[in-house]
Amino acid sequence: MPDISTKKTVLVTGATGYIGRRLTQRLLEKSAVNVRLLVRNRNKVQLSIVDQVEICEGSTFDPQSLDNALAGVDTAFYLIHSMGTEDDYRNLDRLSADNFRESCIKAGVKKIIYLGGLGVKESASEHLLSRIETGEVLSSKPDQIETVWLRAGVIIGSGSASFEIIRNLCQKLPIMITPRWVRSRTQPIGINDVLSYLELSIDLTCKGNLVVDIGCEELSFQQMMQQAAEVMGLKRYLFPVPVLSPRLSSYWLILFTPIPFKLASALVEGLKSETLLQNDNAARFYPEVVPALFKKTVADAIHELEENQVLSRWCDSTGHQACDIKDFDNPEGAILRDTREVLFEKGESQAEVFQSVCRVGGPNGWFKYNFLWRLRGAMDKAVGGYGLNRGRRLNQELRLGDALDFWKVVDIKPGKRLLLYAQMKVPGQAWLEFDVQPDRLVQTAHFLPRGLWGRLYWYSVLPIHNFVFNDLAKTIVRSGGSR
Ligand SMILES: NC(=O)c1ccc[n+]([C@@H]2O[C@H](COP(=O)([O-])OP(=O)(O)OC[C@H]3O[C@@H](n4cnc5c(N)ncnc54)[C@H](OP(=O)(O)O)[C@@H]3O)[C@@H](O)[C@H]2O)c1
Repeated sequence: MPDISTKKTVLVTGATGYIGRRLTQRLLEKSAVNVRLLVRNRNKVQLSIVDQVEICEGSTFDPQSLDNALAGVDTAFYLIHSMGTEDDYRNLDRLSADNFRESCIKAGVKKIIYLGGLGVKESASEHLLSRIETGEVLSSKPDQIETVWLRAGVIIGSGSASFEIIRNLCQKLPIMITPRWVRSRTQPIGINDVLSYLELSIDLTCKGNLVVDIGCEELSFQQMMQQAAEVMGLKRYLFPVPVLSPRLSSYWLILFTPIPFKLASALVEGLKSETLLQNDNAARFYPEVVPALFKKTVADAIHELEENQVLSRWCDSTGHQACDIKDFDNPEGAILRDTREVLFEKGESQAEVFQSVCRVGGPNGWFKYNFLWRLRGAMDKAVGGYGLNRGRRLNQELRLGDALDFWKVVDIKPGKRLLLYAQMKVPGQAWLEFDVQPDRLVQTAHFLPRGLWGRLYWYSVLPIHNFVFNDLAKTIVRSGGSR
């Protein structure tokens, strides 16, 4: 092993997000660098890597935590955005980038590597504008710190939002009436190539700032759909019509894909205008990277799904200013509860029952009354929620922060406790807790109602809870024993 003191120290921010998780894994596998992570909640870092990285808790809105995380750092990755917050995310993003650049300069960091979006200001959507502004802020003091600003459009990888949209539409709809913008061209890129560009940027020598547009061949959304369908062995027909507005298209997307309205509209807005490479810096400065063609990137993503190797998904982070897990990992404040206890009577063990608990949801279903869970999911989707479409990342494993149908995993104690926080549209806050004790499973639905409507909701669903929750607890215990 190389001497730790001679290796560069690299800071990865956004290390619990879609790109950050994969980049961290890539750096650990392939790069001779010390990897430090800046995360808002250290428990979200996957257990398999905690011994190989340095973890700093903090936020770009907390300059003191930035100073701690950046001490001794040579290169810092900026993989953060605030989209998804209720507040004005463009302002937040500018502030976040400004704090980060200043702390980097103070700590003597040599280079910032940022991944933003592809496109030009004149035709940029609100989301893309914010990504451009972030790049401008980060690179605004070239005499004091160098910035490599990579710009990517649609990223194709297992669990990426764009890939999930394409995959779901292809699989669910043989014929599609589409808006005219499906013909505007873009240059997608596979996640593995994005990681290569990011990794190679650490040792890239260039003077001052560099903007690098990355992507593979030029394709319209229509061509991407048709090519992806071919890879999946399907034939799909798209008929562009002039009457579909972006808003209507976004509704269409939330109906047939797991993507929520806000993200769907951002993606639709982004696809309305052409997003093509504006420079050839990728080929000039990274000649060793030859971006894979679109069909290959789709095949790779499908392979990862089939092999149950999805490392990160678009829904890992929720973008809230305060981390979603920390705020919701304790249901003590709930005032209404439904508790079921099932004793282990047929030789079930605590470990087996916990394994059984961790199989709930996604393609595994909810053991019994799946049609009722699907109906609840459809109702949630109808009012703009996630529904059940997000499924689960892996069939056999749950990690803190994983989305699980319309829940989020907010606490997991191996062999003992699983706590899910409801991200469905509900008049209040709801949790589902599985506490596996040596001789029994205690399953509790906690609810903190919002006003009268919240209470009415709770009491009106009680009869359904009565048999759904009862049978859920029983079946979990019994299937634990029968494994
Ligand atoms: N994913 C794509 O398809 C795509 C395409 C083109 C460009 N990009 C660019 O790639 C970058 C990363 O995107 P992504 O998709 O990986 O995002 P993501 O999955 O939403 O993850 C965002 C990450 O940022 C963290 N974060 C947010 N606010 C923070 C703050 N104030 N302080 C510290 N950490 C904070 C989140 O932490 P928590 O886990 O605590 O929420 C999470 O780890 C963005 O600049 C994006 O524009 C992405």
